[in-house]
Amino acid sequence: MKEIYQRRSIRKYTEKEISKEDIEKLLKAGMNAPSAHNKKPYQLIVVQNKETLKKLSDTCIFSKMLEGANAAIVVCSLGDDKETPYWQADCGAVTENILLEATSLGIGSCWLGGYPDLEKTGKEKEILGIPEEYKLFCTISLGYPAEERKPNDNYYPEKVHYEKF
Ligand SMILES: Cc1cc2nc3c(=O)[nH]c(=O)nc-3n(C[C@H](O)[C@H](O)[C@H](O)COP(=O)(O)O)c2cc1C
Repeated sequence: MKEIYQRRSIRKYTEKEISKEDIEKLLKAGMNAPSAHNKKPYQLIVVQNKETLKKLSDTCIFSKMLEGANAAIVVCSLGDDKETPYWQADCGAVTENILLEATSLGIGSCWLGGYPDLEKTGKEKEILGIPEEYKLFCTISLGYPAEERKPNDNYYPEKVHYEKF
């Protein structure tokens, strides 16, 4: 449970390489997320090439940290509203699992929004050769932390309702 609180968005990274084994652990954590009707409607793209990371960092002012990242995992989906109407929830669950596994491995991460920003994701899709019919759900920036952030300790009573709204 501690990873839930320790996970923070980390946007500054050291040069240290994330190993192939750890990348696979991150992917596996994502693949063990719950999924509506167990359809698992996602594809995961691992990016470690520095030039590609730089190109991705230039797609949006809020993605700049990718330039210094060691890796990114891009979560995309066919996002068929008839066959997989819960694709966004499924991709969100995959993403959160990857963030939590990253935290447990001491790897910093940041969830970078994708869909429904079609302008930004259009540029990212082109860079990554993602087929037209796929939607890019999000990009996860990854690297060993070069910044320290306090664990979260949030609780919002005004958001809680017992029995009825
Ligand atoms: C759907 C979504 C999109 C996000 N997009 C970005 C982004 O584009 N750039 C960024 O730096 N952080 C992004 N974040 C991270 C949030 O800014 C961050 O989670 C929030 O400020 C809370 O901080 P914490 O993650 O450290 O708890 C995104 C988070 C979510 C859930």
